[in-house]
Amino acid sequence: MKPGSERIIVALDTPEVAQAVRWVEQLAGTVGAFKVGLEFLHAAGPEGVRAVQAAGAGRVFIDGKFSDIPNTVAGAVRSTCALNPWLVNVHAMAGPAAMRAAYEAAQECARANGAPRPLLLAVTVLTSLDRDALRAIGVGAEVQDTVVRLALLAREAGLDGVVASPLEIQAIREVCGDGFLIVTPGVRPAGGATHDQSRVATPGAAIRAGADYLVLGRAITAAADPRAAAESIAAEIAAAG
Ligand code: C5P
Repeated sequence: MKPGSERIIVALDTPEVAQAVRWVEQLAGTVGAFKVGLEFLHAAGPEGVRAVQAAGAGRVFIDGKFSDIPNTVAGAVRSTCALNPWLVNVHAMAGPAAMRAAYEAAQECARANGAPRPLLLAVTVLTSLDRDALRAIGVGAEVQDTVVRLALLAREAGLDGVVASPLEIQAIREVCGDGFLIVTPGVRPAGGATHDQSRVATPGAAIRAGADYLVLGRAITAAADPRAAAESIAAEIAAAG
């Protein structure tokens, strides 16, 4: 794999297994991992995940964004572990006990399966929420302070890192240190369409700010030549970091 490629996670945002499989076939070997989120998981289920794995996806990020009581979050993590994901995530707003339950469930499954433990990420504040939206749900603190607070809670619960917008990377890195994974969506090559993302950065800027991995969806999957788009982003990442 070329330098930079392994840091790209491609979002397979489609309800169609055949489309996801086509993207994996086009991009495997050119990117580091693939992400399946709520749209795909609720349409295609575990069978869909197995289909993308069978197509050669390699590392898979199951972006299930679990948020429930600790017992149910632990159950969701156990069910997910059966698919051998590389990354799994939970909402930090589910609270410290739910995050600890997720971590313990992942450890137990890994022991039982004799497989590596999936890495666990926390979603802090969704990038679609701004200060007014936080106020509306009763959170008076600033967005960035809330993000950092939730990232610290995630680290204390044993989680491996967070999903964070480009604008939050630096603050999290300063507080949580180098070993803490930061996975960043909202990334757009310079001059590319921003779609519905408002807090965007270029791949180079996100890497320089301290991101470990970048999640890219439409900038790659909607390109006329997805493989060429991924290669050019990988080159930008390599030059930045
Ligand atoms: O197409 P685009 O690059 O905008 O896709 C970004 C991907 O990252 C989508 O799968 C989206 O659900 C996900 N994501 C995000 N912002 C977050 C968390 C996840 O855009 N805060």
